[in-house]
Amino acid sequence: MSQSDDPFLVSHDFPEAPRDCPLCPRLSAFRNDHRKSKADWHNAPVPSFGDRNARLLIVGLAPGLQGANRTGRPFTGDYAGDLLYSTLDLFGFSSGQFQARPDDGLILNDCLITNAVRCVPPENKPTPEEIRLCRGYLQDTIAAMPHLRAMVVLGRISHDSVLRCLGLPLKAAPFKHGAIHDLVSVAGKPITLFDSYHCSRYNTNTGVLTTQMFHAVFQSVRNRLGPI
Ligand code: URA
Repeated sequence: MSQSDDPFLVSHDFPEAPRDCPLCPRLSAFRNDHRKSKADWHNAPVPSFGDRNARLLIVGLAPGLQGANRTGRPFTGDYAGDLLYSTLDLFGFSSGQFQARPDDGLILNDCLITNAVRCVPPENKPTPEEIRLCRGYLQDTIAAMPHLRAMVVLGRISHDSVLRCLGLPLKAAPFKHGAIHDLVSVAGKPITLFDSYHCSRYNTNTGVLTTQMFHAVFQSVRNRLGPI
């Protein structure tokens, strides 16, 4: 198969999942159902948002049904995004005003946001097989960032998927909120991983993650990276 026939290669500059990605039958069926009932929603793999020349990559879990799956931009339109984007603003990783719309003009500075799983999963729960199948896109995203130095991984699933992308065993960096792991990928790329509980409404409502705890993670990232 020539590169131009490859259905998974949307752009040679920045690889993204195609709109009708067939890899996960359960997720494509879910997506197709929503295309019928919510014709004006995005209902497709959600592409990464931000700057591929950034030093920082933030890895979420998967699009929320009425958030990124509706609007087409990661963390846009649900509670998790309100906390994430206000935090990015506070630490200088964005310019402009986040208005929970993909056309709000928000710009990310030195930062890219992506998800471990690109399509919305039923009940926000991707299966281990879906996480594995989608990992190629995450791997391509990481590989396409020439200046990448740090990643904020939101939750254990994203953390573990990133370690697998880097070719590292899970025991190389056990997930713990607030942990900072200085790693070298099998390809020889130095990367610092910042672990955080996911900024979901559930985690914040139950006190698992407070705004202060989340800010502390990004303060550590800013301290490590220094100014832009
Ligand atoms: N929205 C996303 O894009 N990712 C998440 O992990 C949660 C909400």
